[in-house]
This record gives sequence, structure tokens and C-alpha cells, in this order.
Amino acid sequence: MSFNKKILCIGAGYVGGSSMAIFARKCPEYKITVADINQERIDAWNSDNLPIYEPGLYEIVKEVRGKNLFFTIDIAAGVKESDIIFVCVNTPTKTFGAGAGKAADLQYIEKVARLILKHADSDKIVVEKSTIPVKTAEAISEILHSSGDKKVKFQIVSNPEFLSEGSAINDMENPDRVLIGTEETPEGEKARDEIIAIYSHWVQKDKIITTSVWSSELSKLVANAFLAQRVSSINSISLLCEATGANALEVARAIGKDNRIGAKFLKPSPGFGGSCFKKDILNLVYIAQSYNLNEVADYWESVVLMNEYQKDCFVKRMVRIMFNNITGKRIALFGFAFKSGTGDTRESAAIDIAKKLIEEKADLVITDPKALANAKEDLAEYKGKVSFTADPYQASCGAHAIAIVTGWEEYKNLDYKKIYETMERPAFIFDGCNCLDSGALYDIGFNVVPLGRGELVRW
Ligand code: NAD
Ligand code: UGA
Repeated sequence: MSFNKKILCIGAGYVGGSSMAIFARKCPEYKITVADINQERIDAWNSDNLPIYEPGLYEIVKEVRGKNLFFTIDIAAGVKESDIIFVCVNTPTKTFGAGAGKAADLQYIEKVARLILKHADSDKIVVEKSTIPVKTAEAISEILHSSGDKKVKFQIVSNPEFLSEGSAINDMENPDRVLIGTEETPEGEKARDEIIAIYSHWVQKDKIITTSVWSSELSKLVANAFLAQRVSSINSISLLCEATGANALEVARAIGKDNRIGAKFLKPSPGFGGSCFKKDILNLVYIAQSYNLNEVADYWESVVLMNEYQKDCFVKRMVRIMFNNITGKRIALFGFAFKSGTGDTRESAAIDIAKKLIEEKADLVITDPKALANAKEDLAEYKGKVSFTADPYQASCGAHAIAIVTGWEEYKNLDYKKIYETMERPAFIFDGCNCLDSGALYDIGFNVVPLGRGELVRW
């Protein structure tokens, strides 16, 4: 079959794999190739066992794979044949040298730019979809134009991705907006129109926002920072509610009704997680510091500091309420994924909470419907001090306490009467996600400690 356009995506992770599956479904006349250096990942994308869990993704991949969606490790061939290259590699926080712990580690982006330069023998539009610091396009452009060969021309476009894990398919099929940043030159405008043409297959024109490259790059970091800031704000208030007897859910509802504030991202939690919030805020902090805007940097860093404090407070409250002693007590952690609907545990609050509980010498058991394999890796250094089971009934059997850290739907529907019968007394439930009916649990016999609200205990 001949295709109108050929798109290459470099990086077959959450963003690359899922966004290209949507592109392939929505644009049948485009050939989409997703390439990665990781053979195992590519093999998984080509199998029935995809490397990531995302509701609805498998069905879409099955529908388009082999028709206009292909997964390969042959990056060179992909670069040669493509018109448009999306860069979706990881941009983690730098762990070494200048900016360690804050700045984005751009080695993967740079490697990709050099690969493109090496193999490109025709003009390309290079699209940054990875989240990167403002002005990265400039660096990519410098590398791509460093050979002195004027025949092959590159246009750099910024098109950040706003999908959330667990709802990625819906987020991409019905985006609030698509952001496209280009140079304000005739070539930049032409490249912008090519990217608009892709999204116009399914996104209304008024939802496609065009800006300069730098505004687009910065907007992505700022969007994540604002979302995380809301979570840290409500979490700070949840601690105040616990101290004063107010109810954080009622406060969130009361303020969220104000249209100017809005109801979303006001759910108190044991701390936000996910691969991006922390890293993107720290990146913003680093950028602000590098422009000597230290007050700006401190302001945004406090969002991350509050998040660390929240995890700490969650564990301290558990220890305090369990008579200041959890040594040797079996504690069942319900949920390990950073949110429900995903198997991803990157930066999950559960990691730090588990570590703190282990440090308190609790006998920890972890259950999660999708994230156990990742949980085992995250806690590999604690082998022998923590156990894992997919079955929440088994996890809670003989436990002094259950701590709900990920609000999986299935935790709402368990038989808590049956669970209570198998637990040590007094039996505690620390509901970090406010997903259970506290009153009903109390009536069964539990001491219930919901996050951001007063506890229902028998003394
Ligand atoms: P990921 O770690 O799941 O995937 C990145 C992939 O890039 C890996 O498979 C890796 O092998 C591959 N890779 C690295 N270097 C490569 C190279 N030189 N050549 C080919 N492949 C290479 O990452 P992700 O979660 O998909 O995130 C990618 C980017 O998108 C990040 O910048 C992230 O901040 C951003 N983002 C992520 C999400 C999300 O929900 N995960 C949402 C929006 C934006
Ligand atoms: C987030 C953003 O929502 C996406 O727009 C963005 O594209 C993505 O980061 C990214 O750049 O990687 P994601 O991390 O997948 O998406 O998930 P969110 O739904 O934003 O949740 C992040 C964390 O905040 C989770 O741990 C969640 O439990 C927590 N959260 C969220 C709360 O504690 N309270 C809330 O009210 C909402």
C-alpha cells in the first residue's frame, strides 16, 4: 500500500506507543513507525502482551498494527523514509553533574538528534513530544544543522503531550487542546500546517493552539506545575483539617464550586506521583534558578516539598494512631500504582510510604491489581522485609492495618466484613484515597482513619 505521509516516532514508551496508536487509527493514509533502541520493548509492542497497561490501548494496537502502524528497532531506516519525526524519548531528572536532582537529563534527546542527522537524506520535520526545558528546540536545531550540509533541511516543532495515564486514549481522542509551537518563518508555518493536518483528522480546529516554540515548551512544564500545585494545596489543607476536625472533602467541594477555582485536582491524597509532576516542577525550578529568579524557584519547589511532607505525615499518623508502635505488625498496603487504572509506579507515593513503614519495622505486605511486578522492582533492596500478593484478602489476613494508597475501584467492592474477621484486633483502615464508606466500616468494627478528616476510633 502506498501512504501519503510517513511518520517516525522515536521512543516506544507510554507516550510514543499510545499517541502513535491513535495517530494510526485516525490517519489511515499515514504510515506510522515507532522505533526504539530497546528490543524487548519493541518485541512486546509486536506481541499480545504490550509493554504498558493502558485501558483500551491493546484493542487499538491490534486493529492497526501491520496495517499502518509498525514497531521496529531499525531507527536508521525509519529516519530515512520519514517526512515527520516525533521524538518521544524519556527526559528524566539529571542525577549527576551540574543541575543534578533538578535539571532535565537531555542525553537521550541529544542522541536522537545526532541519529537523525546521521541518517537523514531528505528534509524532515522534527517534533518534540517529550517534555523538555524551554529552549531545547534551539539545541536540537544546532545539532541538526551542525554538519554544514545545506541540502537537507530540518524544521523543529514543539507539540507537547498532555495525556494522563489510565485515561490516555480518551485524553488523546478528545483533547482539551493540542499545542503546536513553531518558528515564525514561512518554513515554520509550513511545518505547523503539516502537524495541524494530522490532528485535524479528529480534533476540532478551535482546540488546536499555535504558539512560538518556546511558549509551547514552557506551557507543558507550567501545566504540570499548576496541576501538581493544586494537589499540594489541597494536601496542605488536608493536614489542617486533620488537626482541626474539619473535613477536607467538604472544603474541596465548597471551594471547587467556585467557577474560578474549579472542582478538578482537589482530591487530597497521600501524595502525588507519576513520572512527570516532580521531574517537571524541578526542571522549572532549575530554569528559574538559572535565570537568577530564586524566589520563583523557591515558590515552585515548595510544591514538591509539600508532597514529600504529605507522605511523611501519612505514615506518622499511622504510627501515632497504632499506639506509636508498628514494629512487627503486619500492615497491608492496598495499591502501589501511582494512581488507579495504570500499572505504572514511577514516583508513586506508595514507594516512600512502603519504605518508611519498613523502616519502622512493620511486616509489610503489598497488593495491587496491576503494579506488583513494578512494586517488586521498586522495593528490591528490601527483599525479605516485604511480601507481595495479588489477593487483597490474603494481604489483609492477620494484618493489624490496611492502608489504601491507590484508589482502585475494586477496593470499594471488597467484602470488608470477611476481611475484618481475618484481621488482628483492633483492626485499622487508613483510607488514603477516601474511597471507602467510613461509617459502614466503623459499624463492622474497624477503626477508620480517612485522609483529611477526623478518625473514627473507639477510644
Ligand atoms: P518511557 O520511559 O515510557 O519511554 C521512553 C522510551 O524512549 C523508552 O522505551 C526508551 O527505550 C526510548 N529511548 C530512549 N533513548 C532512545 C534513543 N536514543 N533511541 C530510541 N529510543 C530511545 O517515557 P514516557 O513516559 O513515554 O515519556 C516520554 C516523554 O513524554 C517524557 O519527556 C515525559 O516527560 C513526556 N510525557 C509523559 C507522559 C506520561 O504520562 N508518561 C505524559 C506526557 C508527557
Ligand atoms: C499528568 C497530567 O495530568 C497530564 O496532563 C500530563 O500529560 C502528565 O502528567 C505528564 O506530563 O506525564 P498523570 O501523571 O498520568 O498525568 O496523572 P494525573 O491524573 O495527573 O495524576 C498525577 C498524580 O496526582 C497521581 O498520583 C494522582 O493520584 C494525584 N492526584 C491527582 C491527586 O492526588 N489528587 C487529585 O485531585 C488529582
